[in-house]
Amino acid sequence: MCGIVGYVGPREVVPLLIDGLRRLEYRGYDSAGVAVVADGRLDTRRAEGKLDRLVERLREQPLSGSYGVAHTRWATHGKPTERNAHPVVDSKDRIAIIHNGIIENFLAIKRRLLGEGWTFSTDTDTEVIANLVSSYYTGDLAAAVKRAVGELEGMYACALIGTGSTVGDGEEIVAVRQGTPLVLGLGQGESFLASDPAALIAHTRDVIFLDNGDIARLTRSQIEIWDRSGAAVKRPVTRLNWDPQQVEKGGYKHFMLKEIFEQPEAARDTFGGRVDFETGTVGFDALELAPDYVRSLSRIQLLACGTSWHAALIGKFLIEELARIPVEVDYASEYRYRDPIADASVLVAGISQSGETIDTVWAMEAAKERGARLIALSNVPGSQATRISSGTLYTHAGPEIGVASTKAFTTQLVAFYLLALYLRQQLGREVEPELLAPLAHLPQAISEALALEPEIEKLSRRYHTATDFLFLGRGIQYPVALEGALKLKEISYIHAEGYPAGEMKHGPIALIDEHLPVVAIATGKRVFEKVKSNLQEVKARDGKVIVVTDRDPAELDGVADHVLRVPALPEALSPIVSVIPLQLLAYQIGVRRGADVDQPRNLAKSVTVE
Ligand code: AGP
Repeated sequence: MCGIVGYVGPREVVPLLIDGLRRLEYRGYDSAGVAVVADGRLDTRRAEGKLDRLVERLREQPLSGSYGVAHTRWATHGKPTERNAHPVVDSKDRIAIIHNGIIENFLAIKRRLLGEGWTFSTDTDTEVIANLVSSYYTGDLAAAVKRAVGELEGMYACALIGTGSTVGDGEEIVAVRQGTPLVLGLGQGESFLASDPAALIAHTRDVIFLDNGDIARLTRSQIEIWDRSGAAVKRPVTRLNWDPQQVEKGGYKHFMLKEIFEQPEAARDTFGGRVDFETGTVGFDALELAPDYVRSLSRIQLLACGTSWHAALIGKFLIEELARIPVEVDYASEYRYRDPIADASVLVAGISQSGETIDTVWAMEAAKERGARLIALSNVPGSQATRISSGTLYTHAGPEIGVASTKAFTTQLVAFYLLALYLRQQLGREVEPELLAPLAHLPQAISEALALEPEIEKLSRRYHTATDFLFLGRGIQYPVALEGALKLKEISYIHAEGYPAGEMKHGPIALIDEHLPVVAIATGKRVFEKVKSNLQEVKARDGKVIVVTDRDPAELDGVADHVLRVPALPEALSPIVSVIPLQLLAYQIGVRRGADVDQPRNLAKSVTVE
């Protein structure tokens, strides 16, 4: 999932492009590059690896101009080398292209172009687009792109610049979007484009999300858009309600740590304005489910990937517990390929922080084709999942830059709690005050859990050399164990497994010895004693036990080697505080092992290819 950015305007373009790439680097960091046209000449600089390498290259060989494009790469086709880095230039050296996505029929087109005498210097599918556009280029870049995209199959968000333009003053960027995200930014006498609004917020709040099949031409003075039929269209301008500070580190060493400590506010912003504590009602600004419709539901289907899938497992627990509506949860990447059963009696919700995870978006579309109604639970306004849905429950976590999802997860849990209460309300059942009141204490409870950081820092000193970890939980805390394991894997590259504590004796118990740290979540009343007896089985095999609990630590004497006490909350809200120590443990161990916690290897923030 690459990051693409572009600018045309009066300002010096290269610093702007580099700043844009910095804000998009969480999308991929295998290589980076910029291209500008100055004095009618196309020029590029590229470098393998992190953005700093490109900045170094530009220090050695400066570039300047007033319009250009830039790219940070997550390799799909062709190794992460400088040779395969973007921008890619056509073999006539007159068009530069940056691309996020995959061209599925690139080999067939490549063979044809080779036959026509075009040459290729990279292993990328992107170079095929550059040569194909160039094969139609006679001075009108937008026209050449319109012809070329008719032959492309796959996913692509691209931006192109060229020399020899006969349109206007020639200073233009042509962009096209099919499947992967692309957003345009409106400025005074300047225009911007990027894969993600977070890269534009420092320059403008007025953005346009392109639709699939749209082609745009950006100049200093205007943005023209054509739809896939070639008709000129106007797309809505969205005003972003994020402030630029939110995409800065704000004095923290890493975005991940900043976002972990933003969770009290993010939780407050997610339930704020949606709960009326007086009347005991819940309502949303972008989602409405009529009582008759809710009563007609046979079940709810949740589709998600990664951390969002863990949130969906807790969503199932909450909706079945509080609204008594059956819920199924599926990995989105599996759902689509098993010919799922869905119809008008099924409400399908796509759970996605970015709203752009293609597995989730396509699974949602597969359900829609079968007659199901779609809603989205997302953090990014204007993202694809929100635009293919009839309504969206937004989490108000603000931009999440760290690749490892933290505040988005806890705000997804807050949103699911509100959704469960809303469905209960729409079914005519009372939302009792004791179900709403604890929300008011949630931000404070999260702050108290964050105060465990020094203790967790000590634990990370002790356990950062471990080669494996086991995370255990029961009931509503089982998905929290899964999330704890995922965070540790993503951030520290230590192998870790999350498991239902009751399942441990059916296999994983074989892994346990004095070298295996076991992290367990044991809160509340329902299953505390059960988890405790599972931990006695661990202790019997000399496992090292770390317990996250809201109970008196003395109750875990002889069972736990370390106790992390979080504030007690009603069971339905307890995962929101019990996950905090696990986020901090992963962070501290990752830092201690020297890992790049904001940009872990091989990962990307939103996965926009299948
Ligand atoms: C979580 O830390 C990961 N970044 C990843 O598993 C993520 O949750 C997954 O890719 C889903 O992303 P989404 O919520 O944006 O759809």
